[in-house]
Amino acid sequence: MAITKALFQLIMVTASALFSMALGASYTVGAPAGSWDLKTNYTQWTSTRRFFPGDSLRFQYPTATHNILEVTKTAYYTCNTSVSNAVIATYQTGNDVITFAASGVTRYFVCGFPGHCAVGMKLRVNVGAQSPAPVQCRGRGRGAKRIRCTRPAPASPAASSAIGGGADRSSLWLAAVVAAGSLLLCF
Ligand SMILES: *[C@@H]1O[C@H](CO)[C@@H](O)[C@H](O)[C@H]1NC(C)=O
Ligand SMILES: *[C@@H]1O[C@H](CO)[C@@H](O)[C@H](O)[C@H]1NC(C)=O
Repeated sequence: MAITKALFQLIMVTASALFSMALGASYTVGAPAGSWDLKTNYTQWTSTRRFFPGDSLRFQYPTATHNILEVTKTAYYTCNTSVSNAVIATYQTGNDVITFAASGVTRYFVCGFPGHCAVGMKLRVNVGAQSPAPVQCRGRGRGAKRIRCTRPAPASPAASSAIGGGADRSSLWLAAVVAAGSLLLCF
């Protein structure tokens, strides 16, 4: 009995860990209408999305005309990246994925090509303190013969739009596959 229970708990912990990992949403910066370019209004782009730890941004751009500098808050606002220590990281492959680890922080990105930041090619992202709720499984009845797995409703409508709204299809599919797997493990 004890072994069964321990095994059950192990499965549940593994399933919900996989589920939480799969829930990291992937956003292509500027998509669907734009990209990492001079036209996109990034203030508008971020205003309809919520970001959480585990989520990632994909920057796609031609390397001849753009790059990405992660910069300090000051450099983001002044667009002066010549100040020492203004640049935290440089990306220039044309297809860069940046995953958010820490929560409750603001990350700042600008294009390092002359004049691009000044005309608005800069992105400020608040990484939210709470991630979407993971799946929860509960035993029902004696010996937990019937087990029910549910996903609590997101804390706010914006949180659910972060999952369904702008996330790339691939991560949604992965989430769906893992969710199905978790349910199989549960029943
Ligand atoms: C970008 O969008 C924001 C929010 O919708 C708006 O306030 C701002 O004026 C826009 N900026 C430009 C340059 O159009
Ligand atoms: C940027 O900062 C550096 C170092 O403080 C300064 O020398 C330079 O003039 C600044 N550039 C602009 C465009 O303000």
